Amino acid sequence: MQPIGVFDSGVGGLSVLQALRLELPYERFVYVSDAGHAPYGERDVAHVLQRSLAIGDYLVRSHGVRALVVACNTATAAAIAALRAAHPALPIVGIEPALKPAAAHSRTGVVGVLATRGTLASDKFQALLQAQSAQVRFVLQACDGLAAAIEHDDKSQIRALCARYTGGMGHFGAAPGAIDTVVLGCTHYAFATAALQTLLGPDVRLLDAGQPVAQRTRSLLSNENKQNFAIAAGDKTSAWVDLWTTGAVNTLQDTAQRWLTGTAPARFMELG
Ligand code: DGL
Repeated sequence: MQPIGVFDSGVGGLSVLQALRLELPYERFVYVSDAGHAPYGERDVAHVLQRSLAIGDYLVRSHGVRALVVACNTATAAAIAALRAAHPALPIVGIEPALKPAAAHSRTGVVGVLATRGTLASDKFQALLQAQSAQVRFVLQACDGLAAAIEHDDKSQIRALCARYTGGMGHFGAAPGAIDTVVLGCTHYAFATAALQTLLGPDVRLLDAGQPVAQRTRSLLSNENKQNFAIAAGDKTSAWVDLWTTGAVNTLQDTAQRWLTGTAPARFMELG
């Protein structure tokens, strides 16, 4: 069976890929990190749109993907409609900040949202916010530089930026009026979970959308009878995960080796 394509501006989408591999263990995935043209979150919409369309075309033309997962909140907001228009027959799944699950989870009624500047400014996010703002107050925070620090695994910078950004949002915890739930609205931020949890304390729940996206992908594939239930006998390529990057191969490799668990071997390649 043809693979499933997944892309992000960098390593962030690996957090979604990990959830996808657990949800769809018999699928083969081709991942593209567009680190050579990142960060998306601090660039203009035209840049993100053009890069997303170019990667979508590449995954369809060069790898014949039979589904596409946009594992980037910023790219989903900027380009999902254009991607669907460009590939009308292809199942395409996007990711958006988990405002709805956060609103359902919060007991204090105050939810923090960490995301890129691009995501927060998008019409798509504003519509989502509008739809969820009835019972809950959202405190929004753009985190310039945090995706880049995570991309380069710069631990002291990650801690410093997390402290700076959450420091301006108000009180965290279970007390009335405090933020008790934080949405990780950028796929990179899943890799800062430990730093954030240490800063915010054990009463604060951090929510990313990797698992819901994986579940949505599985149901879309099974509705269309496109889900793979077994690795075809003799098909040695099925178990592979291919990871391509427009940036440095070792950055992607280091992060993937740290975060992608499981037995499927991975191949890393440079994308010109
Ligand atoms: N990982 C991307 C997202 O989910 C953004 C990172 C970037 O700014 O490039 O929004």
